[in-house]
Amino acid sequence: LPRAQVMVVSNREPYIHNHSGNGIALQIPASGLVAALEPVMRACGGTWIAHGSGSADRDTVDATDRVRVPPADPAYLLRRVWLSEQEQNGYYYGLANEGLWPLCHIAFVRPIFREEDWTQYRRVNERFADVVVREASCDDPVVLVQDYHFALLPRMIRDRLPKATIITFWHIPWPNAETFGICPWRREIIDGLLGSSILGFHTQFHCNNFIEAADRFMESRIDREHASITFGGQETLIRPYPISIEWPPAALAQQAPVRDCRDAVRRRFDLPSDMRIAIGIERFDYTKGILDRIRAVDDLLTRHPEWVGRFVLIQAAAPTRSKLGPYSALQAEAEQLVSKVNARHGRDGFEPVRLVVRHHEPTEVFELFRASDMCVVSSLHDGMNLVAKEFVAARDDEQGVLMLSSFAGASRELSEALIVNPYDTHGMAEAFLQALRMSVAEQRDRMRLMRELVRERNVYRWAAQMLLDAARLRQRQRITS
Ligand code: G6P
Repeated sequence: LPRAQVMVVSNREPYIHNHSGNGIALQIPASGLVAALEPVMRACGGTWIAHGSGSADRDTVDATDRVRVPPADPAYLLRRVWLSEQEQNGYYYGLANEGLWPLCHIAFVRPIFREEDWTQYRRVNERFADVVVREASCDDPVVLVQDYHFALLPRMIRDRLPKATIITFWHIPWPNAETFGICPWRREIIDGLLGSSILGFHTQFHCNNFIEAADRFMESRIDREHASITFGGQETLIRPYPISIEWPPAALAQQAPVRDCRDAVRRRFDLPSDMRIAIGIERFDYTKGILDRIRAVDDLLTRHPEWVGRFVLIQAAAPTRSKLGPYSALQAEAEQLVSKVNARHGRDGFEPVRLVVRHHEPTEVFELFRASDMCVVSSLHDGMNLVAKEFVAARDDEQGVLMLSSFAGASRELSEALIVNPYDTHGMAEAFLQALRMSVAEQRDRMRLMRELVRERNVYRWAAQMLLDAARLRQRQRITS
Protein backbone atom coordinates (compact mmCIF):
# COMPACT_ATOMS: atom_id res chain seq x y z
CA LEU A 1 0.00 0.00 0.00
CA PRO A 2 2.45 2.64 -1.13
CA ARG A 3 1.96 6.09 0.42
CA ALA A 4 -1.40 5.13 1.97
CA GLN A 5 -2.30 6.55 5.36
CA VAL A 6 -3.03 3.69 7.80
CA MET A 7 -5.28 4.10 10.83
CA VAL A 8 -6.36 1.48 13.35
CA VAL A 9 -9.50 1.93 15.44
CA SER A 10 -10.13 -0.22 18.50
CA ASN A 11 -11.75 0.23 21.87
CA ARG A 12 -8.79 -1.04 23.92
CA GLU A 13 -5.59 0.99 23.65
CA PRO A 14 -2.20 -0.73 23.35
CA TYR A 15 -0.60 1.29 26.18
CA ILE A 16 -2.40 2.41 29.32
CA HIS A 17 -0.89 5.03 31.63
CA ASN A 18 -1.98 4.76 35.26
CA HIS A 19 -1.12 6.80 38.32
CA SER A 20 0.73 4.59 40.78
CA GLY A 21 2.38 5.11 44.15
CA ASN A 22 5.66 6.14 42.53
CA GLY A 23 4.58 8.18 39.52
CA ILE A 24 3.03 6.93 36.30
CA ALA A 25 3.03 3.23 35.48
CA LEU A 26 2.66 1.82 32.00
CA GLN A 27 0.40 -1.19 31.44
CA ILE A 28 0.08 -3.42 28.41
CA PRO A 29 -3.49 -4.74 28.61
CA ALA A 30 -4.45 -8.42 28.45
CA SER A 31 -6.12 -8.42 25.05
CA GLY A 32 -5.64 -10.72 22.08
CA LEU A 33 -6.41 -7.78 19.83
CA VAL A 34 -3.61 -5.68 21.32
CA ALA A 35 -1.16 -8.61 21.36
CA ALA A 36 -1.69 -9.07 17.63
CA LEU A 37 -1.93 -5.52 16.31
CA GLU A 38 0.75 -3.83 18.39
CA PRO A 39 3.73 -5.48 16.65
CA VAL A 40 2.14 -4.72 13.28
CA MET A 41 1.83 -1.02 14.13
CA ARG A 42 5.37 -1.01 15.49
CA ALA A 43 6.55 -2.31 12.13
CA CYS A 44 4.33 -0.18 9.85
CA GLY A 45 3.71 3.08 11.73
CA GLY A 46 0.49 5.07 11.43
CA THR A 47 -2.17 6.18 13.89
CA TRP A 48 -4.02 4.02 16.41
CA ILE A 49 -7.27 5.56 17.67
CA ALA A 50 -8.60 4.09 20.93
CA HIS A 51 -10.39 4.83 24.17
CA GLY A 52 -8.08 6.48 26.69
CA SER A 53 -8.91 4.36 29.74
CA GLY A 54 -5.97 4.86 32.11
CA SER A 55 -6.04 7.17 35.13
CA ALA A 56 -2.94 9.01 33.83
CA ASP A 57 -3.81 8.89 30.13
CA ARG A 58 -4.80 12.55 30.00
CA ASP A 59 -1.50 13.52 31.61
CA THR A 60 0.59 11.79 28.97
CA VAL A 61 -0.95 13.13 25.71
CA ASP A 62 -0.18 16.37 23.85
CA ALA A 63 -2.71 19.13 23.16
CA THR A 64 -4.23 17.06 20.33
CA ASP A 65 -4.73 13.99 22.56
CA ARG A 66 -1.89 12.14 20.92
CA VAL A 67 1.11 10.31 22.37
CA ARG A 68 3.92 8.56 20.53
CA VAL A 69 4.32 4.90 21.46
CA PRO A 70 5.88 2.56 22.48
CA PRO A 71 7.12 5.10 25.01
CA ALA A 72 10.62 3.60 25.10
CA ASP A 73 11.01 3.48 21.31
CA PRO A 74 8.26 5.47 19.55
CA ALA A 75 7.11 4.02 16.23
CA TYR A 76 3.49 5.20 15.80
CA LEU A 77 0.88 7.62 17.15
CA LEU A 78 -1.73 6.71 19.73
CA ARG A 79 -4.73 9.07 19.50
CA ARG A 80 -6.84 8.76 22.62
CA VAL A 81 -10.59 9.34 22.70
CA TRP A 82 -12.24 10.19 26.03
CA LEU A 83 -15.55 8.59 26.95
CA SER A 84 -17.94 9.74 29.66
CA GLU A 85 -19.12 7.28 32.30
CA GLN A 86 -22.52 7.17 30.64
CA GLU A 87 -20.92 6.33 27.28
CA GLN A 88 -18.75 3.62 28.80
CA ASN A 89 -21.70 2.09 30.64
CA GLY A 90 -23.93 1.98 27.58
CA TYR A 91 -21.48 1.31 24.76
CA TYR A 92 -18.73 -0.77 26.39
CA TYR A 93 -20.26 -2.52 29.42
CA GLY A 94 -23.79 -2.59 28.03
CA LEU A 95 -24.20 -3.23 24.32
CA ALA A 96 -20.69 -4.56 23.62
CA ASN A 97 -20.12 -6.74 26.67
CA GLU A 98 -23.59 -7.61 27.95
CA GLY A 99 -25.15 -7.83 24.49
CA LEU A 100 -22.77 -8.72 21.66
CA TRP A 101 -20.12 -10.62 23.66
CA PRO A 102 -22.46 -13.33 25.06
CA LEU A 103 -24.51 -13.31 21.84
CA CYS A 104 -21.51 -14.14 19.67
CA HIS A 105 -19.84 -16.59 22.08
CA ILE A 106 -22.91 -18.72 22.79
CA ALA A 107 -21.53 -19.45 26.27
CA PHE A 108 -25.03 -19.78 27.74
CA VAL A 109 -25.01 -16.38 29.39
CA ARG A 110 -28.15 -14.58 28.29
CA PRO A 111 -27.39 -11.47 26.21
CA ILE A 112 -28.99 -8.25 27.43
CA PHE A 113 -30.19 -5.65 24.92
CA ARG A 114 -31.19 -2.26 26.36
CA GLU A 115 -32.40 0.61 24.24
CA GLU A 116 -30.24 3.05 26.22
CA ASP A 117 -27.09 0.95 25.60
CA TRP A 118 -27.85 0.92 21.90
CA THR A 119 -28.16 4.72 21.93
CA GLN A 120 -24.75 5.06 23.59
CA TYR A 121 -23.23 2.47 21.26
CA ARG A 122 -24.38 4.44 18.21
CA ARG A 123 -23.20 7.66 19.77
CA VAL A 124 -19.71 6.36 20.57
CA ASN A 125 -19.39 4.85 17.08
CA GLU A 126 -20.27 8.29 15.70
CA ARG A 127 -17.70 9.98 17.92
CA PHE A 128 -14.98 7.63 16.66
CA ALA A 129 -16.11 8.27 13.06
CA ASP A 130 -15.59 12.00 13.72
CA VAL A 131 -12.07 11.31 14.98
CA VAL A 132 -11.23 9.12 11.97
CA VAL A 133 -12.37 11.86 9.59
CA ARG A 134 -10.41 14.49 11.54
CA GLU A 135 -7.25 12.35 11.58
CA ALA A 136 -7.49 11.55 7.84
CA SER A 137 -4.91 13.42 5.82
CA CYS A 138 -6.33 12.28 2.46
CA ASP A 139 -9.70 11.19 1.08
CA ASP A 140 -8.73 7.53 0.71
CA PRO A 141 -7.04 6.33 3.91
CA VAL A 142 -6.82 2.69 4.87
CA VAL A 143 -8.82 2.25 8.08
CA LEU A 144 -8.52 -0.96 10.07
CA VAL A 145 -11.64 -1.17 12.25
CA GLN A 146 -11.36 -3.65 15.12
CA ASP A 147 -13.96 -5.79 16.77
CA TYR A 148 -17.50 -5.86 18.12
CA HIS A 149 -17.27 -2.43 19.75
CA PHE A 150 -17.48 -0.80 16.32
CA ALA A 151 -20.02 -2.64 14.20
CA LEU A 152 -21.57 0.63 13.01
CA LEU A 153 -18.33 2.46 12.33
CA PRO A 154 -17.54 1.09 8.83
CA ARG A 155 -20.81 2.46 7.41
CA MET A 156 -20.32 5.80 9.19
CA ILE A 157 -16.83 6.16 7.74
CA ARG A 158 -18.01 5.05 4.30
CA ASP A 159 -20.70 7.77 4.28
CA ARG A 160 -18.14 10.46 4.99
CA LEU A 161 -15.04 9.12 3.22
CA PRO A 162 -16.52 7.16 0.28
CA LYS A 163 -13.08 6.38 -1.18
CA ALA A 164 -11.61 4.97 2.05
CA THR A 165 -10.45 1.37 2.12
CA ILE A 166 -12.10 -0.01 5.25
CA ILE A 167 -10.91 -3.36 6.54
CA THR A 168 -12.93 -4.55 9.50
CA PHE A 169 -11.79 -7.44 11.63
CA TRP A 170 -14.20 -9.19 13.99
CA HIS A 171 -12.04 -10.77 16.70
CA ILE A 172 -14.75 -12.91 18.28
CA PRO A 173 -16.91 -15.68 16.80
CA TRP A 174 -19.89 -14.91 14.59
CA PRO A 175 -22.76 -17.21 15.57
CA ASN A 176 -25.23 -18.95 13.27
CA ALA A 177 -28.02 -16.82 11.78
CA GLU A 178 -30.62 -18.27 14.15
CA THR A 179 -28.65 -17.12 17.19
CA PHE A 180 -27.67 -13.76 15.75
CA GLY A 181 -31.29 -13.15 14.82
CA ILE A 182 -32.31 -12.57 18.44
CA CYS A 183 -30.47 -9.23 18.40
CA PRO A 184 -33.08 -6.45 18.06
CA TRP A 185 -30.63 -4.42 15.94
CA ARG A 186 -29.45 -7.26 13.72
CA ARG A 187 -30.14 -5.32 10.52
CA GLU A 188 -28.39 -2.15 11.70
CA ILE A 189 -25.34 -4.14 12.81
CA ILE A 190 -25.02 -6.07 9.57
CA ASP A 191 -25.63 -2.86 7.59
CA GLY A 192 -22.88 -1.12 9.58
CA LEU A 193 -20.39 -3.90 8.89
CA LEU A 194 -21.27 -3.94 5.18
CA GLY A 195 -19.82 -0.42 4.94
CA SER A 196 -16.44 -2.26 4.94
CA SER A 197 -14.44 -3.01 1.83
CA ILE A 198 -13.26 -6.24 3.45
CA LEU A 199 -14.73 -7.93 6.51
CA GLY A 200 -12.49 -10.50 8.19
CA PHE A 201 -13.08 -13.30 10.67
CA HIS A 202 -10.67 -15.88 12.09
CA THR A 203 -12.24 -18.89 10.40
CA GLN A 204 -14.16 -19.81 7.27
CA PHE A 205 -16.90 -21.09 9.56
CA HIS A 206 -17.51 -17.60 10.99
CA CYS A 207 -17.43 -16.11 7.46
CA ASN A 208 -20.12 -18.58 6.42
CA ASN A 209 -22.23 -17.69 9.46
CA PHE A 210 -22.02 -13.98 8.60
CA ILE A 211 -22.95 -14.61 4.96
CA GLU A 212 -25.96 -16.64 6.12
CA ALA A 213 -27.06 -13.79 8.41
CA ALA A 214 -26.76 -11.22 5.60
CA ASP A 215 -28.67 -13.56 3.32
CA ARG A 216 -31.45 -14.03 5.84
CA PHE A 217 -31.86 -10.52 7.22
CA MET A 218 -30.83 -8.12 4.43
CA GLU A 219 -31.86 -7.50 0.84
CA SER A 220 -28.32 -8.20 -0.27
CA ARG A 221 -26.80 -10.03 -3.21
CA ILE A 222 -24.55 -12.89 -2.15
CA ASP A 223 -21.81 -14.18 -4.42
CA ARG A 224 -20.77 -17.39 -2.72
CA GLU A 225 -18.07 -18.21 -5.23
CA HIS A 226 -16.18 -15.00 -4.49
CA ALA A 227 -17.43 -14.81 -0.89
CA SER A 228 -18.76 -11.30 -1.33
CA ILE A 229 -21.92 -9.45 -0.38
CA THR A 230 -23.32 -6.53 -2.32
CA PHE A 231 -25.63 -4.26 -0.40
CA GLY A 232 -26.79 -0.77 -1.36
CA GLY A 233 -24.45 -0.76 -4.35
CA GLN A 234 -21.36 -1.51 -2.25
CA GLU A 235 -19.46 -4.79 -2.39
CA THR A 236 -17.85 -6.26 0.73
CA LEU A 237 -15.45 -9.19 0.58
CA ILE A 238 -15.87 -11.68 3.45
CA ARG A 239 -12.54 -13.35 4.18
CA PRO A 240 -10.94 -15.59 6.83
CA TYR A 241 -7.67 -14.24 8.26
CA PRO A 242 -6.51 -16.44 11.16
CA ILE A 243 -4.87 -14.01 13.56
CA SER A 244 -1.54 -14.78 15.15
CA ILE A 245 1.37 -13.41 17.20
CA GLU A 246 4.71 -11.82 16.38
CA TRP A 247 7.57 -14.22 15.76
CA PRO A 248 9.75 -14.28 17.71
CA PRO A 249 7.71 -12.59 20.44
CA ALA A 250 9.34 -9.51 21.96
CA ALA A 251 8.72 -10.91 25.48
CA LEU A 252 10.89 -13.94 24.64
CA ALA A 253 14.07 -11.92 24.17
CA GLN A 254 14.14 -11.09 27.89
CA GLN A 255 13.68 -14.65 29.11
CA ALA A 256 16.16 -16.71 31.08
CA PRO A 257 16.83 -20.32 30.01
CA VAL A 258 13.88 -22.68 30.62
CA ARG A 259 15.61 -24.29 33.61
CA ASP A 260 15.99 -20.91 35.35
CA CYS A 261 12.35 -20.02 34.64
CA ARG A 262 11.29 -23.30 36.20
CA ASP A 263 13.43 -22.67 39.29
CA ALA A 264 12.08 -19.13 39.67
CA VAL A 265 8.43 -20.20 39.40
CA ARG A 266 8.91 -23.20 41.71
CA ARG A 267 10.52 -20.94 44.29
CA ARG A 268 7.70 -18.37 43.98
CA PHE A 269 4.99 -21.00 44.50
CA ASP A 270 7.04 -23.04 46.96
CA LEU A 271 6.92 -26.20 44.84
CA PRO A 272 9.34 -29.15 44.98
CA SER A 273 11.54 -29.73 41.93
CA ASP A 274 9.63 -32.82 40.72
CA MET A 275 6.21 -31.10 40.80
CA ARG A 276 4.45 -31.17 37.42
CA ILE A 277 2.94 -27.82 36.53
CA ALA A 278 -0.04 -26.97 34.33
CA ILE A 279 -0.58 -23.28 33.54
CA GLY A 280 -3.85 -21.57 32.71
CA ILE A 281 -3.67 -17.85 32.03
CA GLU A 282 -6.23 -15.44 30.65
CA ARG A 283 -8.73 -12.74 31.52
CA PHE A 284 -11.20 -13.89 34.17
CA ASP A 285 -13.92 -14.40 31.58
CA TYR A 286 -16.79 -16.90 31.59
CA THR A 287 -16.02 -17.85 27.98
CA LYS A 288 -12.61 -19.24 28.93
CA GLY A 289 -13.76 -22.44 30.65
CA ILE A 290 -11.79 -21.80 33.86
CA LEU A 291 -14.31 -23.62 36.11
CA ASP A 292 -14.41 -26.52 33.68
CA ARG A 293 -10.66 -27.07 33.83
CA ILE A 294 -10.65 -26.93 37.64
CA ARG A 295 -13.42 -29.54 37.67
CA ALA A 296 -11.26 -31.68 35.37
CA VAL A 297 -8.34 -31.40 37.83
CA ASP A 298 -10.71 -32.53 40.58
CA ASP A 299 -11.78 -35.49 38.46
CA LEU A 300 -8.17 -36.39 37.66
CA LEU A 301 -7.08 -36.36 41.29
CA THR A 302 -10.17 -38.29 42.41
CA ARG A 303 -9.69 -41.10 39.93
CA HIS A 304 -5.89 -41.03 39.91
CA PRO A 305 -4.85 -40.22 43.48
CA GLU A 306 -1.28 -41.17 42.61
CA TRP A 307 -0.98 -37.64 41.17
CA VAL A 308 -2.03 -35.95 44.39
CA GLY A 309 0.93 -33.93 45.63
CA ARG A 310 2.75 -34.36 42.31
CA PHE A 311 0.68 -32.07 40.09
CA VAL A 312 -0.43 -28.45 40.37
CA LEU A 313 -2.58 -26.16 38.24
CA ILE A 314 -1.41 -22.55 38.40
CA GLN A 315 -4.39 -20.51 37.25
CA ALA A 316 -3.55 -16.87 36.60
CA ALA A 317 -6.62 -14.77 35.87
CA ALA A 318 -6.63 -11.06 35.09
CA PRO A 319 -9.63 -9.17 36.49
CA THR A 320 -11.78 -7.94 33.62
CA ARG A 321 -15.15 -6.19 33.15
CA SER A 322 -15.69 -6.81 36.88
CA LYS A 323 -18.63 -4.39 37.06
CA LEU A 324 -20.79 -6.92 35.22
CA GLY A 325 -22.76 -9.60 37.09
CA PRO A 326 -21.57 -12.70 35.23
CA TYR A 327 -17.93 -11.64 35.73
CA SER A 328 -18.15 -11.05 39.49
CA ALA A 329 -20.22 -14.24 39.84
CA LEU A 330 -17.56 -16.23 37.98
CA GLN A 331 -14.84 -14.92 40.23
CA ALA A 332 -16.79 -15.85 43.37
CA GLU A 333 -17.66 -19.28 42.00
CA ALA A 334 -14.07 -19.98 40.96
CA GLU A 335 -12.77 -19.06 44.42
CA GLN A 336 -15.30 -21.40 46.04
CA LEU A 337 -14.49 -24.23 43.67
CA VAL A 338 -10.75 -23.85 44.21
CA SER A 339 -11.23 -23.98 48.00
CA LYS A 340 -13.34 -27.11 47.64
CA VAL A 341 -10.87 -28.89 45.37
CA ASN A 342 -7.92 -27.86 47.55
CA ALA A 343 -9.72 -29.04 50.70
CA ARG A 344 -10.49 -32.37 49.02
CA HIS A 345 -7.03 -33.09 47.59
CA GLY A 346 -4.65 -30.85 49.48
CA ARG A 347 -2.36 -32.25 52.16
CA ASP A 348 0.52 -31.08 54.35
CA GLY A 349 -0.02 -27.49 53.28
CA PHE A 350 0.12 -28.38 49.59
CA GLU A 351 -2.73 -27.12 47.37
CA PRO A 352 -3.24 -28.58 43.88
CA VAL A 353 -4.86 -25.44 42.44
CA ARG A 354 -3.28 -22.01 42.82
CA LEU A 355 -5.49 -19.14 41.76
CA VAL A 356 -3.63 -15.88 41.16
CA VAL A 357 -6.03 -13.05 40.42
CA ARG A 358 -4.05 -10.14 39.00
CA HIS A 359 -2.75 -8.70 35.76
CA HIS A 360 0.50 -10.24 34.47
CA GLU A 361 2.81 -8.36 32.11
CA PRO A 362 3.93 -10.25 28.96
CA THR A 363 7.39 -11.09 30.38
CA GLU A 364 5.79 -12.70 33.46
CA VAL A 365 3.39 -14.64 31.23
CA PHE A 366 6.26 -16.00 29.17
CA GLU A 367 8.18 -17.02 32.28
CA LEU A 368 5.15 -19.00 33.48
CA PHE A 369 4.82 -20.64 30.06
CA ARG A 370 8.48 -21.68 30.11
CA ALA A 371 8.21 -23.04 33.64
CA SER A 372 5.24 -25.31 32.91
CA ASP A 373 4.84 -28.87 31.70
CA MET A 374 1.57 -28.07 30.00
CA CYS A 375 -0.72 -25.17 29.13
CA VAL A 376 -4.51 -25.51 29.33
CA VAL A 377 -6.76 -23.50 27.01
CA SER A 378 -10.29 -24.74 27.62
CA SER A 379 -12.43 -21.94 26.13
CA LEU A 380 -16.12 -22.70 25.76
CA HIS A 381 -15.96 -20.63 22.57
CA ASP A 382 -13.17 -18.38 21.30
CA GLY A 383 -12.52 -16.54 18.04
CA MET A 384 -8.88 -17.66 17.88
CA ASN A 385 -7.14 -17.64 21.32
CA LEU A 386 -3.62 -16.31 21.21
CA VAL A 387 -2.57 -17.79 24.58
CA ALA A 388 -2.26 -21.13 22.76
CA LYS A 389 0.06 -19.60 20.16
CA GLU A 390 2.08 -17.69 22.74
CA PHE A 391 2.69 -20.87 24.75
CA VAL A 392 4.03 -22.58 21.64
CA ALA A 393 6.21 -19.57 20.83
CA ALA A 394 7.57 -19.50 24.39
CA ARG A 395 8.83 -23.09 24.18
CA ASP A 396 12.03 -22.85 22.19
CA ASP A 397 13.15 -25.95 24.11
CA GLU A 398 10.45 -27.86 22.12
CA GLN A 399 8.94 -29.29 25.30
CA GLY A 400 5.55 -28.85 26.95
CA VAL A 401 2.06 -30.04 26.05
CA LEU A 402 -0.75 -27.81 24.82
CA MET A 403 -4.28 -28.81 25.79
CA LEU A 404 -6.66 -26.93 23.52
CA SER A 405 -10.42 -26.60 23.28
CA SER A 406 -11.97 -27.69 20.01
CA PHE A 407 -14.16 -24.56 20.30
CA ALA A 408 -11.23 -22.16 19.97
CA GLY A 409 -10.36 -21.05 16.44
CA ALA A 410 -6.73 -22.00 17.20
CA SER A 411 -7.68 -25.70 17.21
CA ARG A 412 -8.14 -25.48 13.41
CA GLU A 413 -4.44 -24.74 13.07
CA LEU A 414 -2.75 -26.35 16.09
CA SER A 415 -3.95 -29.86 15.47
CA GLU A 416 -0.96 -31.42 17.27
CA ALA A 417 -2.31 -30.08 20.57
CA LEU A 418 -4.38 -32.41 22.77
CA ILE A 419 -7.79 -31.28 21.55
CA VAL A 420 -10.45 -31.34 24.29
CA ASN A 421 -14.13 -30.62 24.80
CA PRO A 422 -14.30 -28.44 27.94
CA TYR A 423 -17.88 -29.56 28.60
CA ASP A 424 -16.60 -33.14 28.97
CA THR A 425 -14.95 -33.16 32.42
CA HIS A 426 -13.95 -36.78 32.25
CA GLY A 427 -12.46 -36.41 28.78
CA MET A 428 -10.45 -33.42 29.91
CA ALA A 429 -9.16 -35.29 32.97
CA GLU A 430 -8.00 -38.05 30.60
CA ALA A 431 -6.19 -35.42 28.53
CA PHE A 432 -4.40 -34.20 31.67
CA LEU A 433 -3.31 -37.76 32.27
CA GLN A 434 -2.14 -38.17 28.69
CA ALA A 435 -0.14 -34.93 28.99
CA LEU A 436 1.43 -36.07 32.27
CA ARG A 437 2.47 -39.37 30.71
CA MET A 438 3.64 -38.01 27.36
CA SER A 439 7.24 -38.87 26.48
CA VAL A 440 9.84 -36.20 25.83
CA ALA A 441 10.10 -37.38 22.23
CA GLU A 442 6.36 -37.08 21.57
CA GLN A 443 6.26 -33.65 23.17
CA ARG A 444 9.08 -32.57 20.91
CA ASP A 445 7.44 -33.96 17.76
CA ARG A 446 4.15 -32.21 18.48
CA MET A 447 5.74 -28.97 19.63
CA ARG A 448 7.99 -28.77 16.57
CA LEU A 449 5.06 -28.97 14.18
CA MET A 450 3.10 -26.36 16.11
CA ARG A 451 6.09 -24.02 16.30
CA GLU A 452 6.67 -24.34 12.57
CA LEU A 453 3.07 -23.36 11.93
CA VAL A 454 3.03 -20.34 14.25
CA ARG A 455 6.41 -19.16 12.99
CA GLU A 456 5.19 -19.30 9.41
CA ARG A 457 1.65 -18.01 9.98
CA ASN A 458 2.70 -15.18 12.25
CA VAL A 459 0.89 -11.89 12.76
CA TYR A 460 2.88 -10.10 10.06
CA ARG A 461 1.50 -12.58 7.59
CA TRP A 462 -2.02 -12.00 8.97
CA ALA A 463 -1.67 -8.25 8.43
CA ALA A 464 0.15 -8.61 5.11
CA GLN A 465 -2.60 -10.81 3.73
CA MET A 466 -5.27 -8.26 4.62
CA LEU A 467 -3.27 -5.30 3.34
CA LEU A 468 -2.43 -7.17 0.13
CA ASP A 469 -6.12 -7.85 -0.47
CA ALA A 470 -6.80 -4.16 0.22
CA ALA A 471 -4.09 -3.05 -2.20
CA ARG A 472 -5.54 -5.27 -4.92
CA LEU A 473 -8.97 -3.79 -4.29
CA ARG A 474 -7.64 -0.23 -4.52
CA GLN A 475 -5.88 -1.01 -7.77
CA ARG A 476 -9.02 -2.52 -9.21
CA GLN A 477 -11.08 0.49 -8.13
CA ARG A 478 -8.53 2.81 -9.74
CA ILE A 479 -8.79 0.90 -13.03
CA THR A 480 -12.58 0.74 -13.07
CA SER A 481 -13.30 4.28 -11.88
C1 G6P B 1 -11.16 -9.87 23.51
C2 G6P B 1 -11.72 -8.85 22.53
C3 G6P B 1 -10.83 -7.60 22.49
C4 G6P B 1 -10.62 -7.07 23.88
C5 G6P B 1 -10.09 -8.16 24.80
C6 G6P B 1 -9.92 -7.67 26.23
O1 G6P B 1 -9.95 -10.36 23.06
O2 G6P B 1 -11.83 -9.43 21.26
O3 G6P B 1 -11.47 -6.61 21.71
O4 G6P B 1 -9.74 -5.98 23.88
O5 G6P B 1 -10.97 -9.26 24.79
O6 G6P B 1 -11.12 -7.21 26.75
P1 G6P B 1 -11.33 -5.71 27.24
O7 G6P B 1 -12.80 -5.58 27.44
O8 G6P B 1 -10.53 -5.57 28.47
O9 G6P B 1 -10.79 -4.82 26.16
